[in-house]
Order: sequence, then structure tokens, then C-alpha cells
Amino acid sequence: MRPLKNDLLLRALRQENVDRPPVWMMRQAGRYLPDYMKLRAKYDFFTRVQTPELAAEITLQPVERVGIDAAIIFSDILVIPQAMGVEVLMEEGKGPLLTKVIKNQKDIDELMTNNIAEKLNYVTKAISITKQELNGRIPLIGFAGAPWTILCYMVEGKGSKTWEKAKQFCFTQPELAHQLLQKITDATINYLKAQTKSGADVLQVFDSWSGALSPADFKLFSRPYLLQIADAVKDDAPVILFPKGSWYALKDLSESSASGLGIDWCISPTMAREMTGNKITLQGNFDPAKLLLPIPEIKKAVKEMIDEFGVKGYIANLGHGITPNIPVDNARAFVDAVKEYQV
Ligand code: CP3
Repeated sequence: MRPLKNDLLLRALRQENVDRPPVWMMRQAGRYLPDYMKLRAKYDFFTRVQTPELAAEITLQPVERVGIDAAIIFSDILVIPQAMGVEVLMEEGKGPLLTKVIKNQKDIDELMTNNIAEKLNYVTKAISITKQELNGRIPLIGFAGAPWTILCYMVEGKGSKTWEKAKQFCFTQPELAHQLLQKITDATINYLKAQTKSGADVLQVFDSWSGALSPADFKLFSRPYLLQIADAVKDDAPVILFPKGSWYALKDLSESSASGLGIDWCISPTMAREMTGNKITLQGNFDPAKLLLPIPEIKKAVKEMIDEFGVKGYIANLGHGITPNIPVDNARAFVDAVKEYQV
């Protein structure tokens, strides 16, 4: 494999000295980009995800348009339930819909965990094509959903604000919940390893809904599986865990085999550093809603954010995905502000 021309992300994850932090944006390949909207008008969501050439093209769009320091492969966390045999639809304006939900032992027994990497070979092909096209310019991030977040969708069948049904399932049938979480974990480990084999340089695990759990329930239903994943893949690529909303878990997770922790805007950089004691690289935590501010104000807020995190062991990012209504110029201003950063 070619050495990377820009390896800021990898150096930040090793907590090496850098002149400025690397920057990328969650959902950087998405609906705020006019190029993305053109492909979206032509092909439905899972066609874009399952056609390696299209997924690679979409992955590269923000590289050209906004100039981030890392690409993230265009895919979705719900390809794991699909590979396990569950039908997932992406409904216009409504988000994901799983046509069959998990309720009992039989449902869990029917889930498949064999040949996951083969079933998801469209992702690994997209990764190979993207790596070729990137030609060593910047690293490529592979990803998967955390087992708890995937369980949320598999039990509820669609998005939720509170994830009550998923929590009720875990609290009333913990034995079944752990069986399901373990099956998802096994599939995810195979999948992430396949992503690194085809060229992913870094892996991120999205626990988008861990913040729905109390600290005690996070310890029961999320943490053990995040740790299993981090332990299993740490020798293949550095891992960033993003347990959104679970600021209370930062100290504990800083002692895991992950190299980075993602945080949202609900915790200050100072407090996150205090909890993690410079033991691990932090990533985040710009509120994407602030990307609608005038550009000079975005730049000022970005500088203040970096000042507070410090340059070392830090990856500039949003605290969650960029929303479709953000002008490309504002997204680029966010990225430029990081690149222009001086102490
Ligand atoms: O970050 C990137 O640019 C890489 C691509 C990526 C997508 N989804 C593309 C996508 C990544 C990393 C994801 C992860 C993902 N998918 C998560 C975890 C991150 C998070 O946002 O919390 C979750 C929870 C999902 C499930 C999912 N996929 C939802 C809830 C939705 C609909 C929400 C929405 O924004 O409409 C999707 C669809 C989806 N995945 C889109 C994109 C670009 C929008 C699809 C479209 O309408 O074109």
C-alpha cells in the first residue's frame, strides 16, 4: 500500500505532535452537496449504497468540494441487519424502515451471522475503488453501527426519539437482548475486519443512540460490545468510538483499546479532557446547527473550539451529522478554519 501524503488523522490518533488538527465531518457525503443530490435523483438509496462505483463516487465528492483530511466510505449502518437477513427500506422523508422486527427467540435464531463479509462485498469493493481513486491523498475511514444502536433499529423497526421499545426489550428480556447484541457484535467484527483488508485506514463505530441509556444500562447493554469490537480490530486499524450522548462513559472508554472517542456538544472540550486525562484522542464536537451562522462567526467558533481542545490528540469534527440545509460554502468555511488554525 502507498504511504499517505496526508496522514494527519493517523498521527492525531497516535497522539503525535501536529501543526494543526485533522478535520472531517460526519455525513460529509450527503444531501448538502449538489453533486450528491444529482445522483440521489437518479438512483434510490440502497442502489447508491450497493453499487461500488456509485458509493466510491459519492465518498469522493466532499474530498473535492470541501477538502477534508479524511474520507468516510459512503454506506449505512443498517447494512448489517440486511446482511443478517432483515429487509431494510429507506423511505423518502421518513428514514429507515425494517419490515420485520425482533420480538422473540425464534426471530433471533433466524438471524444469519455467516458469510457477512461476502454478503457485504459491495462495501469492500467500494473501499478498494475509493482507495485507488484517492491514490494516497488522504486516509479512508470505514465504519459500522454499534450493537446497541443496531438493536434499536432491529427491535423498533424504525427511528425513534426515545427508543422505549428497544429499552423495554432489554430490560424485560435481558437474556434475549444479550443474544441479539452478541450476534450483531460477531457480524460487525467480521465486517470491520473485511473493511480494513480492502483498505480502510481507520474505523469508526457509531453508537448514535447510546445516550438513550442510563450510565448503568450503558454498562450492561452497550459498553461490553463496544469493548469487544475495539479489542477485536485494534490490530487491524485504529478505532474511534462515538457513543453519542454518553459523556458519562468517557473516562471508562478512555481506558479501552480504542484510539479515539467522539463527543457531541453536550460536554465541553475542557470537561471531556478532564474525564479522559489525555489518555485518548478526542473527536468533535461542533454543533452542526452552528454551520448556519455567518462564515466569520463559524471561523471564530472553530478557533475557540480548537483552543479549548488543544491541537494534540484532537480531530476536528461536528458533534453529529451535517444537515441537508447547510450551504457548501459554510461547510467549507468550517474545514478551512481548521486548516488555517494557528495557536
Ligand atoms: O458520514 C458519511 O458521510 C458516510 C455515510 C453515512 C451515512 N449514514 C449515509 C446516509 C454514515 C456514516 C451513516 C451512518 C448512519 N446511518 C447512522 C449513524 C450516524 C448518525 O447519523 O447517527 C445512522 C443512525 C444511520 C441510519 C440512517 N441512515 C438514518 C436514520 C437515515 C435517515 C436520516 C436522514 O438523514 O434522512 C439514513 C439515511 C442516510 N444515510 C443518508 C445518508 C447520506 C440520507 C439518505 C438520503 O436521503 O439521501
